[in-house]
Amino acid sequence: MQQTQPWPDQALASARTVDERPAASRHDNPAQYWQEGVCTATAHANIALVKYWGKKDAALRLPTADSVSMTVDGLYTTTRVRILPRGGEFSFSLDGMEIKGGAADRVHRYVDRLQRRFGLSGPVAVESANHVPTSAGLASSSSAFAALALAFAGAYNLDVDRRELSRMARLGSGSACRSVFGGFARWFAGHDDSSSYAVPIDEHPDIDLRLVVVEVNTGPKPIGSTEAMERVVRTSPYYGRWVEQTMRDNEEMLSAIADADFSHIGRLAQQNALDMHALNLTARPGFTYFQAGTLKAMRIVRDLNAEGVECYFTIDAGANVKILTRTATTQLVRARFAQEMPQATVATFGFGPAAHLGGGEEL
Ligand code: PMV
Repeated sequence: MQQTQPWPDQALASARTVDERPAASRHDNPAQYWQEGVCTATAHANIALVKYWGKKDAALRLPTADSVSMTVDGLYTTTRVRILPRGGEFSFSLDGMEIKGGAADRVHRYVDRLQRRFGLSGPVAVESANHVPTSAGLASSSSAFAALALAFAGAYNLDVDRRELSRMARLGSGSACRSVFGGFARWFAGHDDSSSYAVPIDEHPDIDLRLVVVEVNTGPKPIGSTEAMERVVRTSPYYGRWVEQTMRDNEEMLSAIADADFSHIGRLAQQNALDMHALNLTARPGFTYFQAGTLKAMRIVRDLNAEGVECYFTIDAGANVKILTRTATTQLVRARFAQEMPQATVATFGFGPAAHLGGGEEL
């Protein structure tokens, strides 16, 4: 498979200025966020504009291609990691509820893995709160694992820079490596653990771009993202073409962002999402995340464009539709969805910040 240059000059320059400072260390942290063995951190979810859809190494979560995302403001996770005395027991709570099995096991395995990475051991307690404006359908593993990685680093007072933090987050969930950064971020696929991480493209973009999320009634997903990726990589005869195209899309997206060209960003994001979902149909056996509401939302976007309201959609591993539009047209888009899909919940987001210490007054 073709490898990309992990460090185009432009990315390196911006990464150098912001990445080589510690992500969480005793010296940098505002005192109120740090006390011995306890740290609270917050990370925002990100939505991919050029998708990550397939791994070349499942254990390390190395993707087959680079991806580009936008971190969003209203959707975030706050997590506190507390190092427990010897003899204590691992625990995980989410939104105030003690969780056992499933999600708790995944968090436990992840914490164990981070501990081994840094030569640490012993029990910890993890408390998380998801901030989702609508229902749980929008909760994201990207914010969850970025917040957990940072809280872990803070609790153990590890001297990690943001590049290392991005690699740590990647081990929990691939897309989480991009949530270490605000604004636009790019994940370099890399070829091993140390070369696969995200870098900021522009953490405070001056682009008039809003994301209107339409929560189509979902029901259970037909297939989780991990299994879906594994199946398309293994069985789709078109997988190689997807990788080639998505690598070109990454380059084009970088220049669209550099030009602050909303139309170009939107058009490209929409086509990349369509390519990803087309690929799913070509797996053996084929599958789709689209539901009737997804298709209806796509049709509404097309109608709006025909009427001169410029907007584009992107769709992830689920039925929800995320619409890119400008501030001036946000209300028009929302009004149309309220009229045509009154049962759908709609939320609007802007750019969100980088993962940071603190938050969690409610924990
Ligand atoms: O990292 P995961 O398992 O949440 O997978 C994310 C996959 C997509 O959301 C569909 C695309 C992406 O790049 O975020």
